[in-house]
Amino acid sequence: MSLLHSLRPALTRRLTAGSLSLALLGGFTALPAETRTHTTSSRTSDAEAEGFVDGLIGKMTLEEKVGQMSQVALNTPDGATRDERVLKGEVGSFLFVTDPKEINRLQHLAVEKGRLHIPLIFGFDVIHGLRTIYPVPLAMAASWDPEQVETAQRMAAREASSVGINWTFAPMVDIARDARWGRMMEGAGEDPFLGSRMAAAQVRGFQGEKIGSPDHILACVKHFAGYGAAEGGRDYDSANISDEQLWNVYLPPYAAAVKAGAGSVMTAYMDLNGVPATGNRWLLQDVLREKWGFKGFVVSDWESVKNLTTHGFSVDPKDAAVRAADAGVDMEMTSGTFRDDLPAAVRQGLVKESTIDEAVRDILLTKYKLGLFRDPYVSPERSAAELVSQAQREAARTAAERSAVLLRNEGNLLPLRGAKSIAVIGPLADSKPDTMGSWSLAGHPDDTVTVLEGIRKRFGASATVNSTTGVEIERAQPSIFDGQFESPKPTLTTDGQQETEFHHAIDLVKQSDVAVLVLGELQSMSGERASRSSLTLPGRQEELLEAAVATGKPVVLVLMNARPLDITWASAHVPAILEAWYPGTEGGNAVAALLGGDASPGGKLPVSWPRDAGQEPLYYSHNLTQIPNDPDTRYWDGSSAPLYPFGYGLSYTSFTVERLKTSAEQVKSGGKLTVSVELRNTGAVTGDEVVQLYTHQRSGSASRPVRELKGFQRLTLKPGERKTVELSLDTNDLGFWSPQTHRWSIEPGVFDLWVGTDSTAKEHTTFTVVQ
Ligand code: BGC
Repeated sequence: MSLLHSLRPALTRRLTAGSLSLALLGGFTALPAETRTHTTSSRTSDAEAEGFVDGLIGKMTLEEKVGQMSQVALNTPDGATRDERVLKGEVGSFLFVTDPKEINRLQHLAVEKGRLHIPLIFGFDVIHGLRTIYPVPLAMAASWDPEQVETAQRMAAREASSVGINWTFAPMVDIARDARWGRMMEGAGEDPFLGSRMAAAQVRGFQGEKIGSPDHILACVKHFAGYGAAEGGRDYDSANISDEQLWNVYLPPYAAAVKAGAGSVMTAYMDLNGVPATGNRWLLQDVLREKWGFKGFVVSDWESVKNLTTHGFSVDPKDAAVRAADAGVDMEMTSGTFRDDLPAAVRQGLVKESTIDEAVRDILLTKYKLGLFRDPYVSPERSAAELVSQAQREAARTAAERSAVLLRNEGNLLPLRGAKSIAVIGPLADSKPDTMGSWSLAGHPDDTVTVLEGIRKRFGASATVNSTTGVEIERAQPSIFDGQFESPKPTLTTDGQQETEFHHAIDLVKQSDVAVLVLGELQSMSGERASRSSLTLPGRQEELLEAAVATGKPVVLVLMNARPLDITWASAHVPAILEAWYPGTEGGNAVAALLGGDASPGGKLPVSWPRDAGQEPLYYSHNLTQIPNDPDTRYWDGSSAPLYPFGYGLSYTSFTVERLKTSAEQVKSGGKLTVSVELRNTGAVTGDEVVQLYTHQRSGSASRPVRELKGFQRLTLKPGERKTVELSLDTNDLGFWSPQTHRWSIEPGVFDLWVGTDSTAKEHTTFTVVQ
């Protein structure tokens, strides 16, 4: 059996009987560990909850305590059933159970039949929706609209809570600066400022005003920390991040999420600078709890406790359990080493019982705050009314419309006007799973509107719409999600069939007034275990695109993907390019509305778009170093500049940004400046623009990035309308962790300031920060 085949079953995630099951590769093999001490002061909550929980802990056996620290996905390989485990108090949480009846049944066992009547907490990856799929998180970040993102996650929380899910494993706030990394799709892109705003917005959306708000669920910020810096963009690879980069780039979105009240944190799979994140006491204790005052609980990632052995960190699973618990992991996801090994380890003095008590306390306090001790059940009628409701669909459509980024629009080809025939071509044009994108585990493809369906509905009355795939895309590797739902399987098996189909597509283009080519990646080509070494359009899509353009017909390229792709040829030859990302359940309607001009594209890139994979990692806020202004000195065989800069995106109208002013030339450290510009819609239609503010500190104890985003606002202006836009610049946002002083401070000095509509903003002034 090939390695691929032997891995395949282990990679399979399946939706079974209303719940999802996931099986991953197991790990192997201890060292005595340091003792974890939580300062009680950093973990206090309200007195009533604490009194209740402390009373309960006083009654619990060691095994019951460890049971609370154990999360289970499915019936375990040792043959014990879910029910047996629940009845014995060996489970504190389930993941992947999504059927309200099953949730109530399991909850009933725990609450009515369990010795201490402790409710379970049900977790699920509600990453961009539960059943109603919203655009993938990278797309939502492209809206540059935190309120919109908060609304989408609030709607997702509504749907998830309606089936009895209490907890989502989101938001993912890992900074991603390498487009090869498949999980770029789950985050907000490359920038810590944008990432922090999106992180806080998502936490507010999921949790509401406080943990336990009705119709909301607990958030889980992940993957703490540095997963996005996986070397070479290879999923799970080590992250080697300097302290300077860690504090200034990778950690800020976590700090923002914790500040926004995130109730749980998930560890990361990889090692950070040599220490696996799941056994990393510095991260989980010193930074998270001591420095940031985090008061929730920490869950490991899937089997990442047991896999401390695979890392060559722990001797055996028992040592792994001890070291994870000592480091600050409160709940273990799936591998069962806590349940199997922690009680004996405590009895042997390898880990203190007080460490266990503190972990259990955090978990039970969260359950208490969520209201699970008061009312653990869900009403199945509620979900019937909520799932893919009209309100959900409307919110999903708005989210998709606001996430799209218009990359090119030569001769104002878009919006489409007067076309009597439209050819809708491409392997993604009518693929429901691919419209949803990865991490849509509980989504139903049948609910989804494809681009073809959306175009037929929007243009069908005035134009003939012809469609075909033209080419098919095949994955080289199995996907972790295979078996759950899949992109349509290739059916063109022979070269002859492929040629016929290719020519058929080009004939349709020739017969039409305009062609819309829907190209990109299969949904399973982004997400977990979906890194790529190249960024080209997979399969023969580029060839198809070039052949379509060669017909001389106007071509619109609609991209469905969740990472920048190599579209350098297209950027020079295809007149209109709309980045739709994976737009979700209502994606087809949203794309059609954008193509028809009923909605106006106003999204902006949350990542720098490379010309070639060889430029990665690529990000705008690099340091100046030597000869900074000549992008042609960095490589001899091409420019180091991006194809499209961070923050870039066009609209159906045009804007000017003028009259940049600051409220003062000097500002005291800790104070605020008001920055204002005049924004004018100089075109003929209403449109959105995102005004962006960037700064650069000219000198200090360390070199600072050439530009850093420090403010933004998305606005809608009517034709001819002018608006004075005021952005508040908080000098606290100018502080940084200096590798010379080893601390975070606002260093006084002269700053450049630019305001504009992307990271190459031209309007410039300076200001000085004084002590
Ligand atoms: C992923 C997490 C996810 C978990 C549960 C892991 O493989 O890294 O992001 O929450 O599975 O699905």
